[in-house]
Amino acid sequence: MRLSDCHNIDDFRALARRRLPWPVFDYIDGAADDELTKARNTAAFAEVDLVPDVLAGVAEIDTSCTIMGRRSSLPLMLSPTALQRVFHWQGERAVARAADKFGVWFGISSLATVSIEEIAALTSGPKLFQLYVHKDQGLNTSMIERCKAAKFDCIALTVDTIVSGKRERCARSGFTSPPRFTPASALSYALKPRWALDYLLREKFALPNLDTHVREGSGEAVSIAGYFDTMLDQAMDWKTAAKIREEWGGAFALKGVMSAADARRAVEIGADAIMVSNHGGRQLDGSRAPFDALAEIVDAVGGEIEVICDGGVRRGTHVLKALATGATAASGGRLYLYALAAAGQPGVERALAILKDEIERGMKLMGVTSVARLNRDRLRRR
Ligand code: FNR
Ligand code: LAC
Repeated sequence: MRLSDCHNIDDFRALARRRLPWPVFDYIDGAADDELTKARNTAAFAEVDLVPDVLAGVAEIDTSCTIMGRRSSLPLMLSPTALQRVFHWQGERAVARAADKFGVWFGISSLATVSIEEIAALTSGPKLFQLYVHKDQGLNTSMIERCKAAKFDCIALTVDTIVSGKRERCARSGFTSPPRFTPASALSYALKPRWALDYLLREKFALPNLDTHVREGSGEAVSIAGYFDTMLDQAMDWKTAAKIREEWGGAFALKGVMSAADARRAVEIGADAIMVSNHGGRQLDGSRAPFDALAEIVDAVGGEIEVICDGGVRRGTHVLKALATGATAASGGRLYLYALAAAGQPGVERALAILKDEIERGMKLMGVTSVARLNRDRLRRR
């Protein structure tokens, strides 16, 4: 199977599975407990049908929108995801360059394998930094100050990882940051020589936004669950979030809001956006899907705060259904991570080209010439 055989996100998933050691593939593909929420995140889109208008004259359409004050060529953001140079040696550099080429927002994680400064130097396109609040206050301040100096456009505070979800695939494989070659997994790494040679011979693994203050995750191998449960501040509350917003001073989003009540509180503390998200099903299994929760949240706070529908997106029509429901944009992680793992920057660019084509094709077949014209009249729940 080659890159040219990838015609949708699922094809990239198949190619990524062939190219990655299974512990690494399972870290991307896996979720919490029985992975019911991960499945529902995508299945939720199938419960709503699109109602097209015909003969609408769609020779010219505009897929662009504004997200937190920055123009985006598509109503789609690339969500922040950790450890990207473990998936492909180009890592966050590939994603930043592809996002820049397509004119869309992307985000880097606190657990990114490329520094805030380098990402800022790579692209002047819209970018966010996803903040994990650590027990080490000095580290939190360091990351915020570095984002200010690097002129990031937004800080997204992740609020759904106060403890780790139960990541059973990672428990079975022994996946850690950085990856450890255990007896159980050594063979899987040896069977993927291209990945292994890239990982061993290219730039050494690092978490440059964290290793100024902590060894865990870079100098000391730790599971993601272990990192969350020992390093993150479980006392984090709304006062913490308000204080971070003050300290940062720029566009501020909360990532992982799933209730109308919390969306209302996000407005009250002055957040600019919420990412309605359950972390791709990797945290609370049994949680509602973002698309299922979207209408209720938009009805509660739409117009007062931007609402991003994050998770489960695998098709352009999923983006259109989220926007018709009232989202400002949709976002996703695996929709570009499989492509990154499969083929680096060319892979991410191909995935974005496919999603761009599906969004354009969907809008034309719906008789919609701009994203502003997407509304609930164009949807019917089954
Ligand atoms: C993530 N996600 C994530 N979120 C976050 O706030 N900080 C992080 O470091 C990561 N890391 C991460 C790694 C991997 C491998 C995945 C798959 C996901 C969650 C991510 O931002 C997003 O919320 C989900 O990926 C959305 O679900 P989909 O699009 O993957 O279905
Ligand atoms: C994950 C963390 C890093 O979902 O957000 O793996």
